[in-house]
Order: sequence, then C-alpha cells, then structure tokens
Amino acid sequence: MNILPLKINNLSYSANDNEILKNINFSCAEPKVTIIAGNNGSGKSTLLKILHGLIKTPNNVIQWGNYFISEVKEKQSMVFQTPILLNRTVYDNLHYVAIKKNITEKNYIEKIMRKLNIKNISNINAKYISGGEKQKVSIAMSIIGNPKIIFLDEPTSQLDPVYKNEIESIIRNLSNNNIKIFMTSHDVSQIKRIGEEIIFLDNGRVIYQKCVKDFFSEEHCDLIKNYINYA
Ligand SMILES: Nc1ncnc2c1ncn2[C@@H]1O[C@H](COP(=O)(O)OP(=O)(O)O)[C@@H](O)[C@H]1O
Ligand SMILES: [Mg+2]
Repeated sequence: MNILPLKINNLSYSANDNEILKNINFSCAEPKVTIIAGNNGSGKSTLLKILHGLIKTPNNVIQWGNYFISEVKEKQSMVFQTPILLNRTVYDNLHYVAIKKNITEKNYIEKIMRKLNIKNISNINAKYISGGEKQKVSIAMSIIGNPKIIFLDEPTSQLDPVYKNEIESIIRNLSNNNIKIFMTSHDVSQIKRIGEEIIFLDNGRVIYQKCVKDFFSEEHCDLIKNYINYA
C-alpha cells in the first residue's frame, strides 16, 4: 500500500467563523521527517488533525497516494501534545491499544517497551509517571500495529534536554525504518537536528516549503527571519 505522495489540494478550513487554514496546497513525496512550523495559532495542530482525519474535509482535498484518508486511517497514528493515557498501568495502556488493533502476538508489548526503553515503568500507573515518560508511552502506543505515518504534535515542547534527546533519536529511528513522520515543533535547533523537510505556516497559509537545509541557508522575509533568530 503506497500512501505517498501526500497531496493537499486547496485545503481551507474554518471553524466558528474563524478561517484557520487558507488555500493550502502541497505535495509530500518522500518518507522523511516533515516539520510543520509556524508561530502560535498559525494552524499547525489543526493541519495535523485534518491529515489524520480527526477533522473531516471533503474527500478529494487530501489524497494519500491513491487513497482517501478513510482508507489509510488504520495506517496512521497521532501523538498529542498533552498525552492522553488511561488511569491504569503503562502496560495496560499499551495492552489496550494492542487489543484494539487485534494484535495477539505474544511478547509484542514487551518488544515495544524495550524499543522505547520503558520496561522499568511497566507496572506503574500512568498518572504517576513523569512528563517525558508519558510522552514515551504515547509514542510507544502510536507505533503499535506498525503504522506507516505518525503525526507528532510538539512532542518535546515540555521536556528537559535528556528526554528531548531520547525522543529525537526515537523519531529518527522511526523515520529510518520508513515511517513517514509529520511533527510540529517550535524549537529551531530541534528542526535543524531532525527535520528534513519543512512547511512553514503563517496565519493559516503555507509561506515556505522546502528542505530544512535550504530553510537555514536562504534569505527570508522578516517573519521567518525573526522565527529563526528568536524562537
Ligand atoms: N474549533 C475552533 N474554533 C475557532 N477557532 C479555532 C478552533 N480551533 C482552533 N482555532 C483557532 O485556530 C488557530 C490555529 O489553531 P492551532 O491549529 O491550534 O494553531 P497552532 O497549533 O499553530 O498553535 C488559533 O487561532 C485557534 O485559536
Ligand atoms: Mg498547536
């Protein structure tokens, strides 16, 4: 199932009389880490939710390869900025997702926990674990069932450097295993470290889309210049 290229055709989206996304067109052909950047309120989270099908748009606006969102939904997962976990152990949280995805393989959850280095917190109730651990558990939940695309909404914005580093290397690893990553980030040095392609939103419009290398070497308008210098 080839779900790339992703094509967005004239995507506009309003909610409660607020025009949040305006005439967005882009195409994303490669399984790289694509960063969605932009100031607060520029529409990043809304765009991720639309790509993941949590906010509905007409069928022909978003195409994943030859498929509509509804046909690739099972191949996608999303990690929210504030992790949503059940009031149960870390193991049970993972088990819950595995059951929902009909995964019966023995030791599957152990394998996932080893991958994310969270075996040590397996039996702790998720409400007691730290922010960084919660984020890792959310990522662990998101990779259950081998998705082809993962959306991450500012996955490290509240984390200290040690967790940031660990989560960045997890993301890099996923990407190296051919999982397409879309993530929003506010952190310019993080964009430099793990981003490969960047889409920059301003007030609901795409004002820049290119590889990250070019983003950091080209001349920009004041808005992007300020973002790079002061974000
Ligand atoms: N349901 C909604 N109704 C009206 N306005 C909304 C709604 N959801 C988001 N917005 C507004 O849309 C803009 C973009 O939001 P969001 O996608 O969360 O931006 P970002 O993630 O870039 O900070 C913000 O100004 C926000 O207040
Ligand atoms: Mg957001």
